[in-house]
Amino acid sequence: MKICCIGAGYVGGPTMAMIAHKCSEHTVTVVDINQARIDAWNSDKLPVFEPGLDEIVAGARGTNLFFSTDVDTAIREADMIFLSVNTPTKTYGVGAGRAADLRFIEKCARKIAEVAEDDKIVVEKSTLPVRTAESVKRILESNSNGRKFQILSNPEFLAEGTAMADLEAPDRVLIGGDQTPEGKAAIQALVDVYATWVPRERVLTTNLWSSELSKLTANAFLAQRISSINAISALCEATEANVDEVAHAIGTDSRIGPKFLKSSVGFGGSCFQKDILNLVYLCEHFGLPEVASYWNGVIEMNDYQKRRFSRRVISTMFNTVSDKKIAVLGFAFKKDTNDTRESAAIYICKDLLEEQANIAIYDPKVEAAQIQRDLGIDADNQYVTYCKDAYEATKDAHAILVLTQWDEFQALDFQKIYDQMQLPAFLFDGRNLLDLEALREIGFEASGIGKG
Ligand code: NAD
Ligand code: UDX
Repeated sequence: MKICCIGAGYVGGPTMAMIAHKCSEHTVTVVDINQARIDAWNSDKLPVFEPGLDEIVAGARGTNLFFSTDVDTAIREADMIFLSVNTPTKTYGVGAGRAADLRFIEKCARKIAEVAEDDKIVVEKSTLPVRTAESVKRILESNSNGRKFQILSNPEFLAEGTAMADLEAPDRVLIGGDQTPEGKAAIQALVDVYATWVPRERVLTTNLWSSELSKLTANAFLAQRISSINAISALCEATEANVDEVAHAIGTDSRIGPKFLKSSVGFGGSCFQKDILNLVYLCEHFGLPEVASYWNGVIEMNDYQKRRFSRRVISTMFNTVSDKKIAVLGFAFKKDTNDTRESAAIYICKDLLEEQANIAIYDPKVEAAQIQRDLGIDADNQYVTYCKDAYEATKDAHAILVLTQWDEFQALDFQKIYDQMQLPAFLFDGRNLLDLEALREIGFEASGIGKG
């Protein structure tokens, strides 16, 4: 089969690389309108950092995996076309700030309608509001000229930082499609692709709407767990309970389970907030304000957690951070990724800049130019510096903020760091990553999230 994927981003690139790696009988072409991104996919420095990705791409690229900006040819030649374009929160017009912006998806559907010469299976890989397939189908069918299109929903559940492991051994693959004979045949064609390496019982098939809605629901449930434990972290701080101990105690109940209960400075990433806002918008659209307000609480709690962290830093540091050097360790939204979308670090740094702090940022994978875009500042902004390591960032600092849980932060020589800081040396661990007792023994005024 010839497979095309429109959108060479964090999902399209790794997902298609895995399909090409596992299915040598298929040819996979990933296309994008962003020339720089495609150039990077064809270079030694891929545009996405994911452990294990470089090796998989190097093994398949040029053999059965191709990256190109020639969208039309790739569509024309393909039997199956994945849509993996971005679906950000709308910033304009009706539903601004909440609804998903579907213009990129619609453009893809119109492009397929324009250039396809024969029948195609079109697979929604992007995360979409429930019933989007109906619009995609209408656009394709009203321009069909005798060609037949089958629409499938195949949402992606990978998490960044573990994308390759998640793709190699997914908990499940979800495929939704029409329950007609033609729809079932299309579903089977995609099942066959995944069944090359995913145990068949882990490939779930449903109707289109269940599949579309399951993706939004999965992200809402995951984010809800984090907001729930973060809500409890505030209560822990008021009562001298320890949120890690509470999380462990409740997580050993098999009905609750231990995963995704790590209290933090707030969840980030390109998906959780966007997808919940979209779910909230959909509920309102379908006349369900109580359901909308229930899920909106997950976002409100996350905003509160980020705000709470900044306020705590400022109040602990004698109510002023003006002119003080604050070392920010970690800017990515989680470890093992260079992605900063919706990272809590962006919000915290903006709060501190408003208070006229000098911030020195170190992240092992995020580049200065990205940080400048995220903070909306120029390269020569006098309040922000970019450091080559944690030691440079913390030199002469009044406080350290740990905002991403990079493993290397645990291995730092904190005695050396303490010796070069201003006193009292404050440390705020926004990830509950470090041993606070050991830090206090060195002399740090160290605090975590949800720890008395
Ligand atoms: P991304 O922004 O990294 O990549 C999207 C790419 O699509 C961009 O490179 C853009 O140039 C390209 N594009 C947009 N319109 C195009 C067009 N008309 N023709 C060709 N290319 C076009 O986004 P992403 O993180 O890969 O996410 C893609 C989708 O997958 C989103 O719907 C997202 O919600 C979903 N998703 C993301 C993750 C994640 O961890 N990032 C996980 C699961 C699902
Ligand atoms: C998420 C979903 O996990 C994934 O299934 C979906 O396909 C895309 O969205 P991602 O955003 O890449 O993946 O990473 P994830 O591991 O879910 O982390 C999201 C945010 O929550 C990060 O900021 C992370 O640090 C935070 N988090 C996660 C916590 O604060 N506590 C936790 O216990 C888990």
